[in-house]
Amino acid sequence: MPLTLQAPLDMHLHLRDGDMLNNIAQHSAKTFPGAIVMPNLVPPLSSKAEVIAYKSRIIEAMGQEQFTPYMTLFFKPSYDRAFLESIQDEVTAIKLYPAGITTNSEGGVSGFDIEELRPALEAMSDLEIPLCVHGETNGFVMDREAEFASIYESLASAFPKLTIIMEHITTESSVALLDMFPNLYATITVHHLLITLDDVAGGMLQPHLFCKPIAKRPQDRDALLCVALSAHPKVMFGSDSAPHPREAKEACGCAAGVFTAPIALQLLAEIFDTHGASHANLQAFVSGNAQKIYSIDVPQKKILL
Ligand code: NCD
Ligand code: ZN
Repeated sequence: MPLTLQAPLDMHLHLRDGDMLNNIAQHSAKTFPGAIVMPNLVPPLSSKAEVIAYKSRIIEAMGQEQFTPYMTLFFKPSYDRAFLESIQDEVTAIKLYPAGITTNSEGGVSGFDIEELRPALEAMSDLEIPLCVHGETNGFVMDREAEFASIYESLASAFPKLTIIMEHITTESSVALLDMFPNLYATITVHHLLITLDDVAGGMLQPHLFCKPIAKRPQDRDALLCVALSAHPKVMFGSDSAPHPREAKEACGCAAGVFTAPIALQLLAEIFDTHGASHANLQAFVSGNAQKIYSIDVPQKKILL
């Protein structure tokens, strides 16, 4: 059955750089005319010049495909107001990684001392630059996201006007936070709507399903499905499509990241169909909610599946 979507957006995408960028970019652009592009390159994007240069490499890699990259910067507590003002027109959001928690995040934040973060986050709040967060501690792998809840609570209370996006949430407890703090929002991936830890490690180990945060329990997946299928206004689609070279995935010491770009929208449409969720909800989850949360203009492009 044909299905038309107006300007579907991928609000969490890793496009990489160099040959990998050139190999994968068009897979996203075929179904997503716009995406939030994550900054965890080596080295991470942390200057205006780097963001501008990366954006032009992305546009070049897209060839004839119409695609708007919404650029992000790698958060550092040292960013001051003058720097943030100077970069404001080039970035849609700033991404905060706890140090060492995932791929290329070594230069991230340690300790989460609110006073240390205050100058940068207050300036972002005033300038209306959203903060995207990879919310995991370095505790026991199944508890990392739930343990991060107290940090989300501190950030959301200390900076009530700052838009905070909990990236790629995987737990019932993160879903609960959405209704507790008006300034907390979330992205949800397609793989976390489909798989649990059983699919990753319950039988033969599946390296291509290994990512951070790791897929959790059936009740966590159900909680994600509930808010995604009902298009809860505070959630939006973000694939977290994160390719690695095959030898880095099929290895002793597998890199974290699930590559879904070529099939993400198709899988999502299938999930909504299987669960009898409406087309209007799918449209809101893949575009409408994100437009409101980020206050962005989107490319006027229809995608026919
Ligand atoms: C991502 C990557 O490879 O860049 N990996 C992942 O497992 N999701 C980084 C991230 O979003 O954590
Ligand atoms: Zn990611």
